[in-house]
Amino acid sequence: MTPQKIRVLIVDDFADTRESIAKLLYFERDIEVVGSAGSGPQGIQTAKDLKPDVILMDINMPGMDGIAATEAIYAELPECEVIMMSVQGEPDYLRRAMLAGAREYLTKPFTGDELAGSIRHVNELVTEKRGRMAAVVKPLPAAPPPVPQPSLPSRVVSVFSPKGGVGKTTVATNLAVALRMATNKKVALVDASLIFGDIGIMLNITTGNSISDLVPNIHAVDIELLDRVLVQHSSGVKVLLAPPRPELAELVAADHLRTVVNLLRSHYDYVVIDTHPNFDDVTLAMLDISDRIVVLTTLEMPAIKNLKLFLEVAEALEYPPEKLLLAINRADSTGGIVAEDIEKNIRVKIAATIVSSGQMMLTAANQGVPVIIAERDSQVSRNLMDLAKQLMTEEDLQAVAARAVEQAKQSREAKPSRGLGKLRFPVLMPFTSKKGGD
Ligand SMILES: Nc1ncnc2c1ncn2[C@@H]1O[C@H](COP(=O)(O)OP(=O)(O)OP(=O)(O)O)[C@@H](O)[C@H]1O
Ligand SMILES: [Mg+2]
Repeated sequence: MTPQKIRVLIVDDFADTRESIAKLLYFERDIEVVGSAGSGPQGIQTAKDLKPDVILMDINMPGMDGIAATEAIYAELPECEVIMMSVQGEPDYLRRAMLAGAREYLTKPFTGDELAGSIRHVNELVTEKRGRMAAVVKPLPAAPPPVPQPSLPSRVVSVFSPKGGVGKTTVATNLAVALRMATNKKVALVDASLIFGDIGIMLNITTGNSISDLVPNIHAVDIELLDRVLVQHSSGVKVLLAPPRPELAELVAADHLRTVVNLLRSHYDYVVIDTHPNFDDVTLAMLDISDRIVVLTTLEMPAIKNLKLFLEVAEALEYPPEKLLLAINRADSTGGIVAEDIEKNIRVKIAATIVSSGQMMLTAANQGVPVIIAERDSQVSRNLMDLAKQLMTEEDLQAVAARAVEQAKQSREAKPSRGLGKLRFPVLMPFTSKKGGD
């Protein structure tokens, strides 16, 4: 049996370019040009009709450009791969093309060998990806009872840092639990750090459910389906875990997560998202969709250098300044760098600081119990609760403040000889177990 040819679609607004690319590939025995299109929308439609293996996409087209067309194609045809083509001198396009999910980037003019080599390489990825997609589909767990509607509006909050290991997962997990504890509202926690997701470990959740379960049914996902995949933590926070294996993570696209977060947004009061320290398309989609971004850093030079870079990206993406909430983790471990100097240098106000508490955090992570539950009265928990308060709606904040006053009154009446006592943040959730996960 002769092996199947690699089916290629060419999308370029210049007819001459389409023709010369087709000519370059004419003598390649294993490659067949199955179609061509002269614009982004036409490219999307032709891709849907012909389902090619590889799409050669011109980046710079009038109207819908190659990047927008690529995003649309990946949303509908995740098994295709795109090679982006561009003329020299468009370095910014390269970054955006990669963010849109393009697998390779060819600079015009290219030789026939370069083009064919690139197509073959990308096609290997398609074949591999299709094999994995076929293996992924698995039955969904049994349906739970219907979920009551929350009191809207909801808030979507991402915890992000352009540097790894600064405490994103720790902070995201504790923030979600803090929001739940203080407000008793519906809180969802999404692990969008798809390959190295740690939220399951941090909350001691051992179920196999993850966002991967939704991918094969993504166009039919509704809140009931989603609730079957969410896992309830003992705090009441509903958790959407990252895929259990890296090869499954690769099948989760930005659009999948966008669909899921939009659905959560209309059914939960707070949606907290843990992210990956990168500017990949999934992370950018999460940052775009968020109402607030907790930008986390530590006081180390590499972290601060990356923070500056991120602030430039945020500006280029036209995020309003109030969307970003700068938080310094391990703020008392300075190594000589002073938080105020950073503030002056990057001209962004520090909204919150979180102290370092190595042993407590270590125990919390190892036992899978967030520090805000295990060590509720510690300084680090207070810092985390203060940050959570900055993310609350005005209505929730007022309710929390009113309860704090009420609790202070009660404790004064109960112990008149000891004065007002310390004002603690009010906690509504009774915790029966120190272990997370159920
Ligand atoms: N305030 C803190 N005090 C002490 N240790 C902390 C603090 N915050 C986080 N840590 C510790 O720092 C380590 C990294 O934290 P975490 O996994 O939350 O970082 P991350 O930014 O999510 O990392 P990655 O980029 O790999 O996803 C963990 O061991 C965690 O316990
Ligand atoms: Mg993490």
